[in-house]
Amino acid sequence: MPSADPLADAVHACMADIDRLAAGGVDRPVLDRIGVRLAHLAAQTDLFDWRRFPLPAEGVPTAIYTLHVASDGRLPLQLLCARPMPNAPVRPANKPHQHPTWAAAACIRGCTREQLWQDSGTGLRAGPERTLSPESGAFTMLPADIHSVRGDDTAPAMHLLLYGYFFPEAVVYDPESGRAAPYAMPDLPPPRL
Ligand SMILES: [Fe+2]
Repeated sequence: MPSADPLADAVHACMADIDRLAAGGVDRPVLDRIGVRLAHLAAQTDLFDWRRFPLPAEGVPTAIYTLHVASDGRLPLQLLCARPMPNAPVRPANKPHQHPTWAAAACIRGCTREQLWQDSGTGLRAGPERTLSPESGAFTMLPADIHSVRGDDTAPAMHLLLYGYFFPEAVVYDPESGRAAPYAMPDLPPPRL
């Protein structure tokens, strides 16, 4: 039954679809379909407004809002609102890193730049950078993929980020040596819907 909140209804429908898609395991073709479904949610831009999901305070790069997470920690869906901060210190997400589960990102407003990396055994080799925008479709990663994210320096961005399950720790790489080190993920804020 529809609720009084169209965003809650749209998120619920999207996550029910993705739960069904992921039920048999997530490989590349399934992940592609998850990305298409997430991008469809992101395309409903009227549902996501800055008043409901404001940018972080001045000097803080990102505000994170949880839109959904299953009771067992699966399928955490976050809304990230990013403030352009050209001189911000480099954060772990800006360096090559690897999540222990699959991930999909879809942009609602603005853009971010995503890069995949290959482990050559003696260091990391950067692949081409891809711009994630409302027109680009989703960016998806399997657990083995190493990626880095760069914010846009000129305009605020709003995008959706979905993982297979919530994880407290990821792995960040030094691109020159290929050396890996763990880093703690921020806690998942309580769901807003
Ligand atoms: Fe990441």
